Amino acid sequence: MAHELKYQNYLELDTLLSLQKPRAAGSDALKSTVLSEQFFIIAHQSSELWLRQIIADLEAVVDVFTTTDDTSNAEWVVDLLQRAAALVGVLHTQLTALDKLSLRDFALFRELLGTASGAQSGQFHRLAHLIGNAEHEGPLYESFSAWVARSGHSVSDLARRGVDAHVYYRIIEALLDVGNGYWRWQVSHVSLVTKVMGSHAGTGGSTGADYLLSRCTLPFAELRELRGQAHVGLSVASS
Ligand code: HEM
Repeated sequence: MAHELKYQNYLELDTLLSLQKPRAAGSDALKSTVLSEQFFIIAHQSSELWLRQIIADLEAVVDVFTTTDDTSNAEWVVDLLQRAAALVGVLHTQLTALDKLSLRDFALFRELLGTASGAQSGQFHRLAHLIGNAEHEGPLYESFSAWVARSGHSVSDLARRGVDAHVYYRIIEALLDVGNGYWRWQVSHVSLVTKVMGSHAGTGGSTGADYLLSRCTLPFAELRELRGQAHVGLSVASS
């Protein structure tokens, strides 16, 4: 008889739940320190899992923008962008949970991290590249803008038309939701860092909070600029 698939097998839970290995465990560390380190590890691991989904969804969006010339997949793009925005919100909420990391326990297990640092997250760098920053647009916006041009429009005109641009409007809204969620995630990271370690240097060798603050960036500058112009146009038209 075929083996019946069970929840724990489908999700490979034995493997998944064997991957949290606090370095303080097995030493004469307090139980409280081991539990806090487990909390710290789970927050990072689950963030990496969500990053995996966000990157896959956004890369699928870029794929639609680069391989199609019409709006046949546009509603799927809206779904993907809205999901990515919701998941960036999950990253933000997970960071705010880390506000509950015990100051004493973190100080006790931090040296066990060696030089390991979130700055070495390959998935974070992939996401940052996709989304771009305040100075440079990333492939997400570049491919959107080129797709819009191929379909005979301009982003500027679509931004001006607002809700009358229909699915293009929903895409622009969702892109900005991803960008704003990304910004909130970065800012909550800085506030978390100042709460648990003040202005100490990071394990990755940076100055810590000051460095992270300088990295906070609001992506999609062109869209924000165009929305600003549309705002002025709409307020003049209604006066
Ligand atoms: C108590 C918790 C945390 C502390 C104290 C902390 C601290 C830091 C510090 C000081 C840096 C600067 C680089 C360095 O010198 O190490 C950094 C970078 C980073 N951390 Fe965290 N972090 C925490 C939680 C998290 C979590 C849960 C994530 C989720 C993946 C994360 C992701 C990152 C990323 C992606 C960077 C690079 C940011 C950039 O280059 O702009 N961190 N972290």
